Amino acid sequence: MTENMIDLTNLKIDIAKKNKITQPIIKGIDLTIPKGEIVGVVGESGSGKSMTMKGIMNILPVGSKMTYNSFLFDGKVINKEDRIPAAMIFQDPMTSLNPLRTIGFHLIEVVVRHQKVSKKEARELAILELEKVGITYPEKRMTQYPHELSGGMRQRIMIAMALLAKPKLLIADEPTTALDVTIQAQILDLIRKLQKEEELTVVLVTHDFGVLAGMCQSIRVMYDGKIVEEGTIDEVFYNPSHTYTKELLKAIPTGDKGDRLYSLNKSEVIDVNQEGLQMIELSPTHKILANRGDKNA
Ligand SMILES: Nc1ncnc2c1ncn2[C@@H]1O[C@H](COP(=O)(O)OP(=O)(O)O)[C@@H](O)[C@H]1O
Ligand SMILES: [Mg+2]
Repeated sequence: MTENMIDLTNLKIDIAKKNKITQPIIKGIDLTIPKGEIVGVVGESGSGKSMTMKGIMNILPVGSKMTYNSFLFDGKVINKEDRIPAAMIFQDPMTSLNPLRTIGFHLIEVVVRHQKVSKKEARELAILELEKVGITYPEKRMTQYPHELSGGMRQRIMIAMALLAKPKLLIADEPTTALDVTIQAQILDLIRKLQKEEELTVVLVTHDFGVLAGMCQSIRVMYDGKIVEEGTIDEVFYNPSHTYTKELLKAIPTGDKGDRLYSLNKSEVIDVNQEGLQMIELSPTHKILANRGDKNA
């Protein structure tokens, strides 16, 4: 039996900027995502969370170059051109929805792409999925256009579309960052409920540690294109051991929309690009990026 949905070693992603200079974005990370869990990936804006996820999904922007030593998905070797059976949702659903097409069009298109069913059956499956993600009046919603729905409802539509693709893994990249706090809680509840019901594996990406409380079993902390700490939720919340994690935890936003992580004090955080750093085991599940013997990583 395979225990990890994702087992990826030494992932590196470079991107060629406009001036043709290649810039390293992801600097050699090992990523394991255990099956059937919600795993949180946290780090401030620009730390490389989305690029890592896009690399996994094979949807990197033009000009990117990705390398790795090995990539197993559900125990199977993944090669360069392969697409994994995973679905990804983003912060802004509008970027993934065609404003000129109805909700029904979007959903039915996903169903017929993934299942051999008639248009009528596809429509029925789409409506069932809308009910599952808590959309009221699903038949009416099928005929509506994206702009006619609220942000929270649009994110529910994205989740429905993602699930209709029958993924083994759902990657939710800042799914609630653009939403009001109450709606944010509803969407997180929905993700938790669906994960249980569908036995999904979920990666929940966020810049906000607060989002992860009560959501996930384990956490990966990213900083400057590296994973600097990983562990169970208790290990990371109650025994944060990398200086960057400690700073990030101090800066948990109050929950107000637009409240960002301004006041991170990174003067004490080591340069993660220096030679000789390794992931050091503090427990079988808890690791930090540090020099051996380095207490204050
Ligand atoms: N399309 C792109 N072209 C060039 N650089 C990019 C592109 N997307 C992201 N980057 C760079 O990659 C780094 C990581 O970005 P990203 O993965 O989006 O961070 P996060 O999701 O953690 O906020 C940033 O320095 C960002 O400027
Ligand atoms: Mg991002």
